[in-house]
This record gives sequence, C-alpha cells and structure tokens, in this order.
Amino acid sequence: MSGTGTADFFYREAQRLGYVARSAFKLLQMQKQYKLIKPGSSVLDLGCAPGAWLQVACQSLGSAKSGGSVVGIDLKKVKAPSVHCDARVQTVCADVMKLPRSQLRGFSPKKGFSVVLSDMCPVVSGITTRDAALSVELGMKALELAVGRASLSSQLGDNSMLIMDKQSDEAGEDDKGVLLMGGNLVIKLLESEDIQEVSRVCKPLFRKSFWLRPKATRPSSREIYLICQERIALQDIS
Ligand SMILES: C[S@@+](CC[C@H](N)C(=O)[O-])C[C@H]1O[C@@H](n2cnc3c(N)ncnc32)[C@H](O)[C@@H]1O
Repeated sequence: MSGTGTADFFYREAQRLGYVARSAFKLLQMQKQYKLIKPGSSVLDLGCAPGAWLQVACQSLGSAKSGGSVVGIDLKKVKAPSVHCDARVQTVCADVMKLPRSQLRGFSPKKGFSVVLSDMCPVVSGITTRDAALSVELGMKALELAVGRASLSSQLGDNSMLIMDKQSDEAGEDDKGVLLMGGNLVIKLLESEDIQEVSRVCKPLFRKSFWLRPKATRPSSREIYLICQERIALQDIS
C-alpha cells in the first residue's frame, strides 16, 4: 500500500505481475535504462527481503540455460519467492555489517559477483540526521564489501567524514572485494550532505557513476540510488 493507505499504481502493478513488493519497479527501471544484470551474471542482493529484487534479478539472468546466480542476504529470514525465481536464487539470513568477505565470496560460483546490489535501509526513526547517518553506514559497508578495503582506503582522505568499520579489518585476498572487475554496483542511500562524499569515493573506482531517483520511489521518501558501472582495477586508477 502507499503511505496514505490507498493502493498506488506501482503497488497494483506489483500485485498484477506477481512481484512481492512495489520495489521491483525500481530495479526494473535500472535494468531497462542501464542493463546492469546480464544473462549469466552472478548477483549479490544485500537487504533482499521480501524478495522483489530477487525476482527481477532472476528474470534478468535469462533462461536457466544461460546460467547465473542470485544470492540474497537479509537480517530477516526470507525464502526466494516462488514466482519469477528459480533454483538459481538462494537466500541467507545474516547481518551484512558482520559478514566476512571470505564467507560472501564462498556463495558465488565465480568466487566473486558481477553485480552487487544494496537496497539495505535502517529502520527509519523519523530523526532525519540519524536515519541518514545509518544509511551511509550501510552504504559504506556495501561499498567496502564490493571493492575491498584497499581500494576504499586509497580514496578516503585523512579528513574524510566517512569512516570504515574497523572491526571488519581483513587482510590479504579478502582485501580485494567481492565485486569482479568490470562489475556493477548499486547502493541505496537516504539523502544528506554525506552522500556526496560516498559518490566522490566511488567515482574513480568505476568507469561511470551517477545518481538515480527511480519513478517508483515514493514522493515522501529521501531514498536515492548511486549507480556505479564497470569496476576498474586499482592499478588502472590514475
Ligand atoms: C527496503 S528493504 C529491501 C527490499 C528488497 N530490495 C525488495 O525489493 O524486496 C530493506 C531491507 O534491508 C534489510 N537490512 C537492513 N540492515 C541490514 C543488515 N545490516 N544486514 C542485512 N539486511 C539488512 C532490512 O531487513 C530490509 O529487509
């Protein structure tokens, strides 16, 4: 339902087309415009409940013979929806903030993912600055898991307002991040001054990065998505 209690267009369309939530249309719009997920991709979906992005991601993999996989992670226990998902979709109940990259990489058949999506959102308190700060924390965690600490540290200056989670310090192979070179990343954030810093940090790590506010985002929501296309290897960053 929409925030006002009346079923809005995207809610009704989700019901009609078998999607478990209207959020499906946000990823559908990204797919239509930017083709982030290609047939055979390996997709990591952070904050996947109730599963609408799992459905769109699986559809985007194409027919079963193209292969590919989708791994969804959420604090909530969620099953892959029966409509639009097939055996290529698996779900894991875990806190992304505490998940080691080594464990994440183990979920991918290619030992890495070609697409990392984060639609993670804190439980909104209504205190704008608090919600925005928590959302940046989740977004930064998604970025750190995707590109690794080494790439991220190289872009975070000493005076950066963004702080990496010190507890998750992992060295060696784990420092590379789980996003394969050439891969795409999507991060949801709640609008605040700090999100410009997240965008600044991402820019040199990808060929292209830009903001999108999908049509299916409710007018009252502060959410916005940072879309990063084609990860660049650290040695290629000038
Ligand atoms: C907006 S919903 C995601 C909707 C989903 N993309 C879909 O289309 O069905 C945000 C999700 O992020 C999850 N989340 C928030 N913090 C998380 C964390 N630390 N680890 C895992 N999931 C988290 C919440 O449990 C919630 O289900």
